[in-house]
This record gives sequence, C-alpha cells and structure tokens, in this order.
Amino acid sequence: MTEITRDVVIVGAGAAGTTAANELRKAGLSVAVLEARDRVGGRLWTDMIDGAMLEIGGQWVSPDQDALIETLVELGLETYDRYREGDSVYINAAGELTRFTGEMFPVPPTTEKAMVELIDRLDVMVERVDPDKPWEHPDAEELDRISFEEWLRRQTDDEEAAHNIALFIAGAMLTKPPQAFSALQALLMAASAGSFSHLVDADFILDKRVVGGLQQVPLLLAERLGDDVFLGQPVRTLEWSDAGVTAMTDTMTVRARYAILAHAPILYSRIQFVPALPRLQQQLHQHISMGFVIKVHAVYDRPFWREQGLSGTAFSPYELTHEAYDNTNHGDERGTLVGFVSDREADDVFRLPAEERKERILESLSHYYGPEAKNPVVYYESDWGSEEWTRGAYAASFDLGGLVRYGADQRTPVGPIHFACSDMAGAGYQHVDGAIRMGRLVAGNIIEEARS
Ligand code: FDA
Repeated sequence: MTEITRDVVIVGAGAAGTTAANELRKAGLSVAVLEARDRVGGRLWTDMIDGAMLEIGGQWVSPDQDALIETLVELGLETYDRYREGDSVYINAAGELTRFTGEMFPVPPTTEKAMVELIDRLDVMVERVDPDKPWEHPDAEELDRISFEEWLRRQTDDEEAAHNIALFIAGAMLTKPPQAFSALQALLMAASAGSFSHLVDADFILDKRVVGGLQQVPLLLAERLGDDVFLGQPVRTLEWSDAGVTAMTDTMTVRARYAILAHAPILYSRIQFVPALPRLQQQLHQHISMGFVIKVHAVYDRPFWREQGLSGTAFSPYELTHEAYDNTNHGDERGTLVGFVSDREADDVFRLPAEERKERILESLSHYYGPEAKNPVVYYESDWGSEEWTRGAYAASFDLGGLVRYGADQRTPVGPIHFACSDMAGAGYQHVDGAIRMGRLVAGNIIEEARS
C-alpha cells in the first residue's frame, strides 16, 4: 500500500479533473489525480480500430466554447472544419429522402411554419434561462413538471414539427426519449449552448475538430502533472471530516485537505463515503441518470458521398440512425461517416446479435447515402453503456422535477469534498467546455478557501 499526502486529491482524469489539477498546481497547491481506468481522458478517447483513428467519445468544438478554445490554444492544438460542402439529406416519416441546404429541414410549408414558431418560442424562453441557475426561471416549477414531449404537444399538433424539434434536444443532446426529461431540462440544454437556434445549426454546434483528436486535451494536461497522475486506481473509499479527506484505492492511500470528485455524478455511489454523505446528497444523486447513445463509425476507401454532391450531413427522426455526418479525419484519403443511434433505439439494437445490429445500422446509413454505405472497410460502435466508469453517453441529466428540487444543491461542496464534471456545468453543459469550466471553478473555490 502506497501512502502519500497532498493538498488536494482529484478523483478522475477526464477534462474536468486534469483542468482542476493544473489550476491548483499553478496556485502552488500539491495534487494527486487518481484515475480508475488505465488511460487518461474519460469520455474523451481516440483509438486505432483496424488501422483507423477514431474518436470514440467527444470530438466537436463549437465557437461559443471559450474555455475549451482557450485550452486548445494554450496546449498548441490545431483545429479543422468539419466537411460540409454540398447538400444535406432529410428523410421524412414516409421514408422519402430530400436533399437540402441550410438549417431548415425540407418539410411541408405548414410544418416549416410550425418548426420556425417553435424555435422562436424556445429562443425567447431560453433568453430568460441562466444556465447556471435554470431553477430561477419564473416558470421553472411548471416547466420542470412536464416532459419536453408533453410541452411540445401543447404547442403544436404538427407531428413532424414536434418530432424534429424533439430530436434536437432528445436524440441529439440529452440522448433520452423526450418524455423522460422536463421542458426546463430542455431549456437548460439550449441555454448552455447560447440559444435553441444554435442546437438546430449543425454548422455551429459541430463546427470544428482537433487534429489528432480531442483526447489530447486531457492527455497534455495530464502530461504536465507528471507523476501526480495515478492510473488504474479506482477510489473505493473516501473518509472525510472537517480536517480533510483520505482517499483509498486497492493499492494507494492519499491524505489531503480537499477532494474533488471529477466524474459523472451517477458514479458517486461507487464510492463508500465514511461517514456517509448527507441525506440531501444521497437523495439528489438518485435523481440524475445518464443518457445513452451509440456513436457508430463507418470508414470507406473514399468519401463516396462527396462524389454525389452530399456533405454527409443527414437527419431523420424516423431513422434508426437519427443523424450522421462526414467524420473524415484531417488529411485522410479515406472517408469516414459517423452516425448516432439514441436512447430506446440503442437499447433495442443492443438486444440483437452484433452482426444483425451492424446490418441494421448500415442499412439505415444506406438510406441516406445509397448502397455503398453498406460496405465499410472499418466499422465500430462505441458502447459507453457497458463502460464501468462511465455507464452511458453523452452525459447525465435530472429526471422530471429534479432540476427545481435539487439543481441548486448539485455543486455545493460537502465539507472538504467538491464536485466538478461536465454534467453539472451551466455553459458547456454535457460538453468538454463545461468540464473545463467546472474544473476551473472548483479549483478556484478551493484556492480561495485554502488561502482564507
Ligand atoms: P469524464 O467522464 O470524461 O471523466 C471522469 C473520469 O473519472 C473518467 O476517466 C473515469 O474513469 C474516472 N472515474 C470515475 N469514477 C472513478 C473512481 N471512483 N475512481 C477513480 N476514477 C474514477 N463533448 C463535446 O464537447 N463535444 C462532442 O462532440 C462530444 N461528443 C461526445 C460523444 C460521446 C460518444 C460521448 C461519450 C461524449 C461526448 N461529449 C462531447 C461529452 C464529453 O465527452 C464529456 O462531457 C466530457 O468529456 C466529460 O468530462 P469530465 O471530465 O467531466 O468526465
């Protein structure tokens, strides 16, 4: 058993944990980062699969993500644009494909009118939501009581408009069915990205990628920490009192003045707290759950869809793969498509044998891009749901009523224990930008506390 003493012990070497550790170090505090996995990065993971470099977790950067962009610049990482020349495609409920440009899906005029009205209404509502305090919205109680699906149903009887607007938040962001989260949770998601219109605009929300992959952010941050990052060290027990904390893994004991839990909140229950966390935390943590999405990569010998004048951008609330994009790596001659299968559809296909699942997903991609999509040279499905130290994708959100009931308490420290993760961010919520913001915020709070 190795025993060490530090000012701060950080549980988790994702973007939040590695950011916090660096900030604390800069302020002269000593740190130890304990990471359960045998790699740094958490939900950021770039891997070679059958000779193709794939970003299995987070990858895109949008222009409003200041904290992430600052970090990329500081680390000397280069970005490149997602390929977006040519037409996008949309498939309607009847299975008909239409090519289009711009943001508005090619739907009948009445549906378009309904969609524009909904987007405008949501934008106006989002303006009144502080992403750090959505529960302070004047109608927060009411909005947190009804599901986003029910809220949409009350606004419009145009089914296709409702399905499409639901898609932007449900399948594409929270990765839960729209009946499983509240209208307030939907507004938080939009407010965290600046507006609902930003979520509709794929060119905004999925703007850039990092040459070599976004995992380099936590990797380079961890490199700066050198020997203070300990891999393969799941924290099993955290003893705490006003005097400090003791974090215990199977082979290490770290004594510190403060702890930062820098991982998804659904994993707090994996740690034995001694004494137990207060009643409030034990309750609130039960009202948060992970969404679930399969990120599918299909690599082809060339980006064949570009030859048909297609950008690769594809949407349909009626397809198994509800959205897909050109995900060709910087400077790569081969072409890569990335598609997403979300929530209940993801559950359903994971009940199938692997070959059948692959066939169904590729069949869905072929509806957008033609039969060539059925024959990739490399095929890979991310499965974050079975990753013990994540348990879902992309991130966590509250159940109905949870935001108003518990949101304000989520970040409140418990004695020397602080909480930081993308899943409790305001701006950048559920994104790497939010993880960095939370890492900075919590480090700042500890530095201030340590100095007083
Ligand atoms: P994260 O989960 O990354 O890190 C927590 C770390 O804590 C993990 O390494 C875990 O192993 C460790 N840990 C947990 N319990 C522990 C214990 N008891 N002891 C020790 N260690 C423990 N974002 C974005 O900005 N753009 C995008 O395009 C996408 N796309 C995307 C796709 C997919 C498939 C996923 C899964 C996610 C995204 N995201 C994204 C979201 C983004 O990846 C995510 O929000 C952040 O990477 C989360 O960073 P954190 O540091 O908060 O947690």
